[in-house]
Amino acid sequence: MEASRGKILTFANPKGGVGKSTLSCLVTAMMQWSNKYESIQLVDADKQGSSVSLLQRICKNVACSHYPISYEYDKLNLIMLSQLMENTRMKKGNVLVIDTPARPGQEGIELFTKSHAIIVPVSNTMAELPPTLDFVKKLDKIKERFNKIHPHIVIIPNKIHQNRKHLDDFVNFFENLDVVIGPPLHDSSFIRKVYLKSYELDKIEKETIFSDLIKVMEFLNKYVMEEELDEIYRIDNKYERSNNLSLIK
Ligand SMILES: Nc1ncnc2c1ncn2[C@@H]1O[C@H](COP(=O)(O)OP(=O)(O)O)[C@@H](O)[C@H]1O
Ligand SMILES: [Mg+2]
Repeated sequence: MEASRGKILTFANPKGGVGKSTLSCLVTAMMQWSNKYESIQLVDADKQGSSVSLLQRICKNVACSHYPISYEYDKLNLIMLSQLMENTRMKKGNVLVIDTPARPGQEGIELFTKSHAIIVPVSNTMAELPPTLDFVKKLDKIKERFNKIHPHIVIIPNKIHQNRKHLDDFVNFFENLDVVIGPPLHDSSFIRKVYLKSYELDKIEKETIFSDLIKVMEFLNKYVMEEELDEIYRIDNKYERSNNLSLIK
């Protein structure tokens, strides 16, 4: 299926250190390298601005701006971000990736629920899973209140040890919630280094984590960008809040 409108992918999780900035930059870079989209841009909504500098290090020719939204006086940034989201949606081929702060506030969360998908990185640890679950429930309530199928909530298991059997834990943990679980990203020493040194496509391609990234991109392309998830909900005819859909391959 071909996408009908521009797409907004928001990387969010109120827990810090789960991989929001890292994954938002890698996904933005992978989209840019794929040459599939007309216009791609990343917005860093965290005051630290770490994804602005990270993206510059791996993929220079992609638009990237910083609109921090953590404080009361950041209200203007919320308004600008909201307009940018509207503009992105107008034209197919547009992609906006948003990296969000650890505590985005209620206004921030409500703005992000206007995305096409909220991508939620989380590792298989008790430090990260429970706050992530609370967040997903909160998003789910907002969707329920407006009876909406968007945003799709996509859980990306991150920093996973090579032993894949732990992935069942994710499916169990998010049971009965309206989420999809994407392919995992393994724990990678390369990802830790990417914050410290410059790397571009030719180097990243040689890393073992690249095959994980490709699977995540295939998943996002098919289910989010090409609207397969929209289609699944459409076939259901109405928005049924049933078991979570596990799409781990
Ligand atoms: N798959 C991974 N393997 C190894 N380290 C990772 C992975 N994903 C993220 N990290 C590391 O975890 C730390 C936090 O990531 P970051 O993207 O800054 O999180 P957040 O934006 O959610 O606070 C960084 O040091 C990053 O390099
Ligand atoms: Mg961050």
